[in-house]
Amino acid sequence: MSDINEIILKEVLVKGIIPFSRFMELALYCPKFGYYERQDVSPGRKGDFYTSVSVGALFGELLAFQFSEWLYALSVAKCQIVEAGAHDGRLARDILQEIKVLQPQLSDNLEYWIIEPSEARQGWQADTLGELARSVRWYRSWQETPETGVNGVIFSNELLDAMPVHRMGWDASERKWFEWGVILEGGRFAWSRMPQTNPEIGGALLELPQEFTAVLPDEFTTEVCPVALNWWRQAAGKLKSGKLLAIDYGLTADQFLTPARRNGTLRSYYRHHQSDDLLADAGNQDITAHVNFSAVQKTGESQGLKTEGLWSQAQFLTRIAGRIFERKGHHAAWNSGKVRQFQTLTHPEHLGESFRVLVQSAE
Ligand SMILES: C[S@@+](CC[C@H](N)C(=O)[O-])C[C@H]1O[C@@H](n2cnc3c(N)ncnc32)[C@H](O)[C@@H]1O
Repeated sequence: MSDINEIILKEVLVKGIIPFSRFMELALYCPKFGYYERQDVSPGRKGDFYTSVSVGALFGELLAFQFSEWLYALSVAKCQIVEAGAHDGRLARDILQEIKVLQPQLSDNLEYWIIEPSEARQGWQADTLGELARSVRWYRSWQETPETGVNGVIFSNELLDAMPVHRMGWDASERKWFEWGVILEGGRFAWSRMPQTNPEIGGALLELPQEFTAVLPDEFTTEVCPVALNWWRQAAGKLKSGKLLAIDYGLTADQFLTPARRNGTLRSYYRHHQSDDLLADAGNQDITAHVNFSAVQKTGESQGLKTEGLWSQAQFLTRIAGRIFERKGHHAAWNSGKVRQFQTLTHPEHLGESFRVLVQSAE
C-alpha cells in the first residue's frame, strides 16, 4: 500500500466515512505524497495524461500572441500576466520566450506572476524557467499578491478541472441531493452515502425546477466544485483591468444533466488509460472532473466582470492563428512540426472540442 493510501486509510478509519472531495484533495495534493506533488508526474507521452502544453511550444506561442494583443490594448505603465496551476513551468517558459520575440519592449514593463501553493512545484518551475525566472514572482495564494491588484491577464490551463469536487447523488424518493462519501469495505475503499450533507455545497443543483427533478433517476450523480468557484471569485476580485481566462475540460450547466452523464464526469487516468475506478491506487493516478462553465461564468459576472465568450479550444486557437497570419503574412509560415501541433490542439478527436475557453474582462 502506498504512503498516501495509508494516510487516507487512517482518516477513513478515524472518521468512518469521508466526503469524496477530501479523498480527491488528499490523493492529488497531500504534501509530499499527493499525485501532483510527485516530480515524476509530468504531462506528456511518458506521463498519465496529455495537456495542450505537452503537445509542444505552439500552445504557449499562440497564447503569448493573444496576451500581448490584450496587454497592448490596456496602455498601462506596468502590466502583469498571472498564471495558476503552472505545474512544471513549461507553459510559463513558452509564453515568456515568445513575448520576448514578439514584443521586446513589452517585456520591460511586464511582470509574470505564478500563484503556486506548493514549495516543491515552485522549485520545479524555477528550474524549467532558468534565466527567465528573473522576470517571475511567486505567490502562494491570492492573499499574498499586492493589494494594487492585476492590470493584465490572469489565466490557467487545466487548473479548475483538477480541483477537488463534491460528488452529489439524487435521492428520488426523498427528493433531495446527498453527497457521496468514501468508506472502507472488505479492505478496500468503497462508495457510501454521507449521513449528512451540507445543503450549501449543492449550489445551483438546489435550484433545479421541480418538473426536472421529478424525472431525475435515483442516484443520478454529478459534481459540484465550490473550491473552483471560490478561486474564480478571488481572481475576479483581483483583476482591475484586463482579462480572466480559463482553459479546461468543461460543459455548460445543462450539459451535465443528461442521461449519458448519469454517473457524472469524474474519471481517472493512469498511463493514458481512462478508468472509472476513482478510488483505486490513490496518489498514482490523475483524477479530473469537467468544469461547470455556467457556474464559473456567473461567479465572474457577480464580481462585475463582463463575459467575452465561451469557446471550444479549436475555435479560440484558430482565431488567434488567423490573426497571426493576417499580421505577419508569409513570414508566419509554420514548419510541419508546428502544423502537426496545431492539428492536435484543434482536432475534435484530440484536444480541440473537449477543452473549452472562458474569457471574462474588467475595464
Ligand atoms: C492538470 S495539472 C495542469 C498543469 C499545467 N497547467 C499544464 O497544462 O500542463 C493541474 C495543476 O494545477 C495545480 N493546482 C491545483 N490547485 C491549485 C491552486 N489552488 N493554485 C495553484 N495551482 C494549483 C496542480 O498542482 C497541478 O500542478
